[in-house]
Amino acid sequence: MSVQKEIKRVTVHVLRALKSQGEKITMLTGYDYSLARILDEAGVEVILVGDSASNVMAGHETTLPITLDQMIYHASSVVRAAKRALIVVDLPFGSYQGSSRVALESAIRIMKESGAHAVKLEGGSEVAESVKRILSAGIPVMGHLGLTPQSIYKFGTYQVRAKELEEAEKLKKDAKLLEELGCFSIVLEKIPAQLGKEVSESLRIPTIGIGAGPHCDGQVLVTHDMLGITKEFKPRFLRRYLDLDELITGAVQQYCSDVKSGDFPNENEQY
Ligand code: KIV
Repeated sequence: MSVQKEIKRVTVHVLRALKSQGEKITMLTGYDYSLARILDEAGVEVILVGDSASNVMAGHETTLPITLDQMIYHASSVVRAAKRALIVVDLPFGSYQGSSRVALESAIRIMKESGAHAVKLEGGSEVAESVKRILSAGIPVMGHLGLTPQSIYKFGTYQVRAKELEEAEKLKKDAKLLEELGCFSIVLEKIPAQLGKEVSESLRIPTIGIGAGPHCDGQVLVTHDMLGITKEFKPRFLRRYLDLDELITGAVQQYCSDVKSGDFPNENEQY
């Protein structure tokens, strides 16, 4: 029997067990109660309250503007919905880079005020002190390497990272470091599949890939992208499972037409 069927609440230990049994881990982003309930009941193991909320929920161009208070609001909505999934929350830009003390205070606020189970932050050796300090408070930490969108103005583009040897070597070192520090998992974003394979095979903790190839221990997508709510975003790694934009547009147009024609509400839809 797979680890899946027996679990009541997915924990960081369950993720490690899934990796050691060779069972892939599923993660999707969630930002609100209603969609998080569907993701949870559909069986996704990890719901990431990503700072991509800044893009898909608030319409910002980057993930930088979202605040700690806003992340806590999204996270607490997801926590109320999810009975089984592990809930991981992004530490937003500016809430952990300054000092490890600030990082710990931000992580504690997320855990206390939202009820989530873990935090995620971007970077390797640069954030080692923050990772250590958060872990020392008993808060599970997920790392994030490769394309780290909070550094978009340093990179200048959202293109594939670590294609060159030097950056690939740094990424491998950072992944090892995050594992040694005690992170329970690492997101690998937009890196060559071969590098995703090497890193995943070199670690005991699970890697979760987004545009990092099939050899990662799990996969993550932004839910609004895979459901086809966002339209313009079309990276190669994205598989769209639905065209919700079209379905919702059709339903809304039908509603408008029914109201205009007097077809809605009908006899059964009134008191
Ligand atoms: O914020 C987010 O949605 C993420 C995923 C892309 C991994 O960090």
